[in-house]
Amino acid sequence: MKEEQALRKEAEQIVQTVEAAGPFRQQFHLMPPAGLMNDPNGLVQWQGVYHVFYQWMPFHTGHGSKWWGHAATRDWIHWKLLPPALAPVHDFEKNGCYSGSAVVHGDLLYLFYTGNVKDEHGNRTSYQCLAVSSDGVEFEKHGPVIYQPEGYTAHVRDPKVWFEAGQWWLVIGAQRRDLEGQVLLYRSLDLWEWEFLGPLAGKDVTLAASFGYMWECPDFFELGGSRVLLISPQGLEAEVYQYQNQYQSGIFTGEFSPETGTFSHGSFHEMDLGFEFYAPQTFLDDQGRRLLIGWMGVPDQQEQAHPTIADGWVHCLTVPRELTMQNGHLYQQPIEEYRQLRGEHASAVVAVDDKTVVWHSWKAAVAEVHLEVEEDKSWTVSWRRYFHISYDAGAQTLTFERPDLVTGDPVRRTGRVTGVRSIRFLFDRSSAEVFVNDGEYVSTSRLFPEQEEGELQFSAEKPAVFHVDAWELQSLQ
Ligand code: FRU
Repeated sequence: MKEEQALRKEAEQIVQTVEAAGPFRQQFHLMPPAGLMNDPNGLVQWQGVYHVFYQWMPFHTGHGSKWWGHAATRDWIHWKLLPPALAPVHDFEKNGCYSGSAVVHGDLLYLFYTGNVKDEHGNRTSYQCLAVSSDGVEFEKHGPVIYQPEGYTAHVRDPKVWFEAGQWWLVIGAQRRDLEGQVLLYRSLDLWEWEFLGPLAGKDVTLAASFGYMWECPDFFELGGSRVLLISPQGLEAEVYQYQNQYQSGIFTGEFSPETGTFSHGSFHEMDLGFEFYAPQTFLDDQGRRLLIGWMGVPDQQEQAHPTIADGWVHCLTVPRELTMQNGHLYQQPIEEYRQLRGEHASAVVAVDDKTVVWHSWKAAVAEVHLEVEEDKSWTVSWRRYFHISYDAGAQTLTFERPDLVTGDPVRRTGRVTGVRSIRFLFDRSSAEVFVNDGEYVSTSRLFPEQEEGELQFSAEKPAVFHVDAWELQSLQ
């Protein structure tokens, strides 16, 4: 008990002092006060306040027994860092309060999370646990509400809870004993007693073939008349135009029948073309927006090479993005609240023929930049001579290039993109989020350029014209 109190004090101290610093400290993205941040957890709006919890290792920049860090905002611009919501102190969670979700019921805020437990031989057990709060700051733990289902390994985690058709529903990511990834479905009338309905999706349920050995962080929601199952599968083989990161995130779109608890769906669509994006989660806010936040990181992918480790922190979250479904395609757009950050503005018409054009008048490194370009042109746009985006109109591919974090050699991510009309960049001190064609395609990456100032360069195969608008993004914290 004494040790638990000491640890809590230490973690709370970290929240108060915010030790993470250095040249790559983010200006408008949520990052850890120190230590390692991974998945967004428990996204919810409650009594007008947005709560963002996150997987947190307070004491070092590696993984381990995770806590739930906690931050709150009313406007997505001004944040309050709150004391950690969950610390891994009980037997049913001693090796980590792993990812999960939040729902509001009556006057209370309910957190569902996975209690991760390992014995001295490294054998794992997972419990789906409940914690309840009446003030949104202190959470009372009630222990496991769901135990290990038959036929699955101990890799069952990341409960997502929602209300629909007069009852509560829950999905968890799971690994079948024969190492097939699936999502499992439960339901409840009171949030305490849960009935296991069986697998919702995966091999032998909705898919004929294997599709990864584990599905993490499921989410299951209605969007524009379609039903979306969001998952982060592990074990997909890299292909030329997809699955190029260590692990991916993406969606199946289809129909859900609450009467039978069944989901029918089409093929999987990876949802990000960048280097660092994983474990996104969504929630509905009081304006009816479906908002998504992802982790700007990928498990087991070059983590130790992130230069921020020297400054005592690693990883951050994406900006919240509003989701819409248009012609069966998922669109992601940064929420419009970020417009408040816009400061100094410049615009230009950049005509490029056979030489690279440098836009010298623009220097701000933390910036929002919009480009419009003719759809049939092939071109390259470079940011700070570090990050290069190239469109090949013939092959219909979009390529993102940056130096490899370990070797420094150029490394690329290429996806199929049928025509580029516009691009919106959000550059923070150490990240770029790129929204193509109003969010039809998105690419999320961390960038660690040594050069201080921002600079845009344009080149094209045949003469091309870019209409450019740029805003410096201010710090309003
Ligand atoms: C995804 C994940 C989750 C797990 C958490 C642990 O990045 O592996 O499945 O709950 O991170 O931090």
